[in-house]
Amino acid sequence: MFKDLNDFIAALDRERERARVTDPVSPDLEIGAVTDRVSKSPGGGPGLLFERPTGFDIPVAVNLYGSMKRICLALGVRTLDDLAKEIEEIATPKIPAGMLDALKMLPMLNRLRDLMPRTVSDAPCQEVVRRDGSLDEFPILKCWPDDGGRYITLPLVFTKDPESGQRNIGTYRMQVYDGRTTGMHWQRHKGGAQHHRVAERLGKRLPVAVALGPDPAVAYSATAPMPEGLDELLLAGFLRRDRVELVKCITVDLEVPANSQIVLEGYVDPGERRREGPFGDHTGFYSHPDDYPVFHLTCITHQKRPTYLTTVVGVPPMEDFYLGKASERIFLPLIRKTLPEIVDMHFPAAGIFHNIVVISIDKRYPGHARKIMNAVWGLGQLMFSKTVIVVDKDVDVQNEAEVAWIVGTHYDPERDVQFTRGPVDDLEDASDLPAYGSKMGIDATRKWASEGFARQWPKRIRNEGPAAVKADAIWEKISKGWRA
Ligand SMILES: Cc1cc2nc3c(=O)[nH]c(=O)nc-3n(C[C@H](O)[C@H](O)[C@H](O)COP(=O)(O)O)c2cc1C
Repeated sequence: MFKDLNDFIAALDRERERARVTDPVSPDLEIGAVTDRVSKSPGGGPGLLFERPTGFDIPVAVNLYGSMKRICLALGVRTLDDLAKEIEEIATPKIPAGMLDALKMLPMLNRLRDLMPRTVSDAPCQEVVRRDGSLDEFPILKCWPDDGGRYITLPLVFTKDPESGQRNIGTYRMQVYDGRTTGMHWQRHKGGAQHHRVAERLGKRLPVAVALGPDPAVAYSATAPMPEGLDELLLAGFLRRDRVELVKCITVDLEVPANSQIVLEGYVDPGERRREGPFGDHTGFYSHPDDYPVFHLTCITHQKRPTYLTTVVGVPPMEDFYLGKASERIFLPLIRKTLPEIVDMHFPAAGIFHNIVVISIDKRYPGHARKIMNAVWGLGQLMFSKTVIVVDKDVDVQNEAEVAWIVGTHYDPERDVQFTRGPVDDLEDASDLPAYGSKMGIDATRKWASEGFARQWPKRIRNEGPAAVKADAIWEKISKGWRA
């Protein structure tokens, strides 16, 4: 796995997955525009390293996770399904049947040993310590024309619950107000916001540390929807196959990944709010300005020659789709521990995570699809799912055309649509109220007599047997000389 961000960038070079941009390109809108253009090219385009951001001598890395190949490289797997299989194995502990079985389990047991982070005293991220440092020294992007300013878009925000001491890490954007102050856009449902809520109840200042550009497995883990109270660094240790090395911050009582490129130390005061936004968001629209807590900087530490890692979100698909795809695959085996009837799930890029989720199930009893909808609406960040589509297990949920066809042919709108109300994503623009609105489930499974369906379900058309084999052979022959 990768020692640090530079090690990952070197691997991207070897795999010809990174493009160097040697022309001067401005962090003010130009890098955002280039990244958007590149992200929309087939397969997500290459990762980008802007070597000469106008006005800065710190290179900007962006879109590093923005393809299936690169997100797999980042997490050290050939495919995300391979990773899901490993997690499934670890989540299903077996008692070895004999010596051979026990030996086979050793690599997995070794990986469990790597889960706990360890603290080191000497850290690359503290090669330079600047108590009087300013955010103006870094090529922080203004991504879109109507953005309220410059935003740090891929930070790992570290906090501890002031009462329990439990750590949380989340990726929450930070709008730069001036060299020493930013917004802290942790939405109300997120771990950082909960720690802040506790701090406000106690009337205490909340220490915050922000790591920029650690190794890729750690960076991904901050975006993962880990259940509250479970440390994201356990997941990171598992993914990187080695403990995460942490170093104590200089001015706050927090630890950050030692291999980060840049660290911002500071605090958020109780009661303080400031207007944040607008921001060109991953919905493809500008999110409305709103009041959010304020981060005050106490110290900047960084490597001698740091790279500034960031991302640009906007009209999908962009880099965040691939980070989300990793979460979809990593969390599926864990969700199946409580909902084993789920066969597969898919968040289409155009659904920007919370708008559409498609789930296939091994349907076992009447009303089963509705049980799954209700379970989804009660499960961590899946609660935001505005449209839950449930299909039978023989439908390939990753094939969006097949899903559209099956939904259209399998649902009776009046009978098969279930509405409910509840919490919705903070970025939801269509609900009457912010963060509270309605959701819809579509039961697109085949209906049973026990569900009141008295008619015969039609048989799906397929070619089978010798004619299908012959068709393959003939197509093999004629397709070579034919160009679409
Ligand atoms: C690129 C990117 C930017 C994000 N920005 C925000 C943000 O500004 N605010 C927020 O609450 N969540 C944001 N998220 C989603 C959170 O990182 C995600 O919900 C994560 O699980 C939060 O961790 P937590 O549950 O520990 O709070 C972002 C995710 C990505 C991939």
